[in-house]
Amino acid sequence: MQLHISPSMRSITISSNNGFTDLMKIKVAARHISYRTLFHTILIVAFLLPFVFILTALVTLEGANKCSSFDCFGRRFGPRFLGRVDDSGKLVRDFYKIFNQVITEEIPDGLKLPDSFSQLVAELKNNQYDAKTFAFSLRAMMEKLEREIRESKVSELMNRHFAASSIPKGIHCFSLRLTDEYSSNAYARRQLPSPELLPVLSNNSYHHFVLSTDNILAASVVVTSVVRSSLEPEKVVFHVITDKKTYAGMHSWFALNPVASIIVEVKGIHQFDWLTRENVPVLEAIESHHDFRNYYHGNHIAGANLSNTTPQSFASKLQARSPKYISLLNHLRIYLPELFPDLDKVVFLDDDVVIQRDLSPLWEIDLQGKVNGAIETCKGEDEWVMSKYFKNYFNFSHPLIAKHLDPDECAWAYGMNIFDLRAWRKTNIRETYHFWLKELQEGSDLSTF
Ligand SMILES: *[C@@H]1O[C@H](CO)[C@@H](O)[C@H](O)[C@H]1NC(C)=O
Ligand SMILES: *[C@@H]1O[C@H](CO)[C@@H](O)[C@H](O)[C@H]1NC(C)=O
Ligand SMILES: *[C@@H]1O[C@H](CO)[C@@H](O)[C@H](O)[C@H]1NC(C)=O
Repeated sequence: MQLHISPSMRSITISSNNGFTDLMKIKVAARHISYRTLFHTILIVAFLLPFVFILTALVTLEGANKCSSFDCFGRRFGPRFLGRVDDSGKLVRDFYKIFNQVITEEIPDGLKLPDSFSQLVAELKNNQYDAKTFAFSLRAMMEKLEREIRESKVSELMNRHFAASSIPKGIHCFSLRLTDEYSSNAYARRQLPSPELLPVLSNNSYHHFVLSTDNILAASVVVTSVVRSSLEPEKVVFHVITDKKTYAGMHSWFALNPVASIIVEVKGIHQFDWLTRENVPVLEAIESHHDFRNYYHGNHIAGANLSNTTPQSFASKLQARSPKYISLLNHLRIYLPELFPDLDKVVFLDDDVVIQRDLSPLWEIDLQGKVNGAIETCKGEDEWVMSKYFKNYFNFSHPLIAKHLDPDECAWAYGMNIFDLRAWRKTNIRETYHFWLKELQEGSDLSTF
């Protein structure tokens, strides 16, 4: 099909290549025609043309002897299906009728599905279908494709989940090598920060960040990104908390790769007296409880019903089941006031964030006696991410939940939280947390995942 505009811009000729030359010729009469009008004319014609063409083709082929594709299509479906061509309303009605019928009926057993659309067309041409079989085939093909897409989407999510939570092969021994360095290299063991800087760790004129992770690379990314984006890097103090097995490696990393001008402290949970005394046993029980382990580390596809699982719900399930949620390190935030008894305010960062802006204004926010400042995840542009309320996380069929919580309360992101530790110390948040942990251990049907 061609669109030809005459050099004088007075006429537009549209022609198709197969004999319908000069099917339409539009003469533009006005002498001083605006380009705007011309543009609109072209647009309208270009949209109309396919319909005009198809109608003309059908009318032409109706009387033709030789079997063109349109004609065969019509005859095979029979007069009832295509009706008289000029009776286009009837055609559409018949179409609807057949598709409506097919939607509610069972797809016949043993319906042989073509592998592709072109095979469907080929079989159509070879006179193999009546209208109903054709509609069934179309429906079955679409359902099959939908199923396949859903399944591959789910396995893609699964693979991404594992890829994201595992260590790339190239650095399998990264942590091990750093640990080895710790025992053999005195510089890797040196005190962090150096003794003259120790008072800074509890000086509230500085900006204190807390990062709790067993992932050395991630910790390095978070620390470096904070420093790079900071307008006052000399005020930044990092408290990196890690578990016993990662402690030596984490310490070596920050000792051997000092981040310019900032102060980094590395602590293992075994070094907090307060933690080991009474509280860690509660948390460790969670981490090692068989059912919990299975829930977070198990085969996530096994129990899932793929025919009623959407990729989105599967993704959020995987996200909720990330093993890091039962890691002791993840529960540490609840002990911040006790872990840092001298500090008034801290910013707690998750290990999967990259900071791109200066965060110092966070310390100037007046929390008005509140404990936690965070970003709400129920208002915002992204409909999926920003639509999270308590009802998305908790099982409100459970009487205990229904009694204590409001389903329409906005949820919040905890990738970056500011905590007012002075306000926190006046509350009994920790006891409440322990209460819920105990409930969770006794019967795990409190959450919706
Ligand atoms: C905290 O640090 C500031 C700035 O370096 C210093 O002026 C102040 O004396 C320090 N406070 C204490 C209690 O050490
Ligand atoms: C999966 O869900 C579909 C639709 O809800 C249901 O018909 C089917 O029986 C379920 N399959 C299993 C194995 O639970
Ligand atoms: C929600 O709680 C009810 C009542 O305890 C329980 O029967 C149900 O299994 C729970 N649902 C989930 C998904 O855990």
